[in-house]
Amino acid sequence: MVTRRVGILTGGGDAPGLNAVIRAVVKRGVGQLGWEVLGIEDSFNGLMDRPMRTHVLTPRSCRGLLHRGGTLLGTTNRGDPFAFATGTDVVDRTPQLVEGFQDHRLEGLIVIGGDGTQAIALRLMRERGIPVVGVPKTIDNDLSATDRTFGFQSAVDVATDALDRLHTTAEAHERVMFLEVMGRDAGHIALSAGIAGGADVILLPEIAYDPNRIAAKIRRRQEIGRLFTVVVIAEGALPALHDGSAVPLEERKARLRKGGGAATIAMAQLEGRIEAEMRSCVLGHLQRGGSPVPSDRILATQLGVGGVDLVEAGCWGQMVCLRNGHIEGVDLERAVSEYRLVDVKGQLLRTARAVGIELGAPE
Ligand code: F6P
Repeated sequence: MVTRRVGILTGGGDAPGLNAVIRAVVKRGVGQLGWEVLGIEDSFNGLMDRPMRTHVLTPRSCRGLLHRGGTLLGTTNRGDPFAFATGTDVVDRTPQLVEGFQDHRLEGLIVIGGDGTQAIALRLMRERGIPVVGVPKTIDNDLSATDRTFGFQSAVDVATDALDRLHTTAEAHERVMFLEVMGRDAGHIALSAGIAGGADVILLPEIAYDPNRIAAKIRRRQEIGRLFTVVVIAEGALPALHDGSAVPLEERKARLRKGGGAATIAMAQLEGRIEAEMRSCVLGHLQRGGSPVPSDRILATQLGVGGVDLVEAGCWGQMVCLRNGHIEGVDLERAVSEYRLVDVKGQLLRTARAVGIELGAPE
């Protein structure tokens, strides 16, 4: 006997561990609690499109998923049902979504996604009466409601491996090597990978950098015979303005686009200030692809099971999260209202400074 009918979807950019969450939800919900779980394809799109794109998920259809990157269900970061872009028009497609939800006689949705997707889920619950439970995901680790998001450690792993590789070629050619990593407006990936990969300089969106400090660091290294330097730069990092202030958040995207990206801008800033050849490497989507590392598989499994627990407890409107080592629920409202940046006075940053890593600005 089917005890519940619940839909599940993945929204926003993918992150290693999405499949592990889906698998955990199906193993626990279907395998142990007798639910029927309907997989919705490509974020909310599968419920809005006609014919609908959904399929029943079973423990059998979820075999072999734990270590697989990507998402069995597909995803998109361009599908807001409240403002869906079609050609030049922007339309409200929530009526189709509600109709799809009702046609399938679903009790609610488990929505796996980052802040954007969770904000949409919350609106769907409030304004369209669709019960939702959120599961946080992002390689950026920028959701303040959870201590960590799955995908983050896997991204750090890839970036650290890239740094190890860049070190040897930087040293062989006596070059200044830039590695640009993802993270949107937050520098968590850059900071963690930079420490793990032994970077000499780490540049973060949270700290507007002074190119003179980077140049001075490179020169100091050259003076002691270290003729190469490895710099990790977050994709949102920018130099300080002339008065030492940071570029306002709303202007950063345009400035980064115009300058050709964070690493390109930083190299241009150093031109003429140092005597060394420079090269850059933009790691891009390699950070999001491939298998999740074990700690992400574990966290994703915990969050999948935790999401099922929230549904069983009737805690619609909550997001499952990891807090102080415990899996618990937090109101979606709170979960989407706070964005976590790197704490510029935090322990990790102090550690970086303490081992001589240049951060582009004084403490
Ligand atoms: O939020 C995850 C993320 O990978 C960011 O780090 C990055 O800025 C963005 O998504 C890239 O998005 P897209 O896949 O649309 O290029």
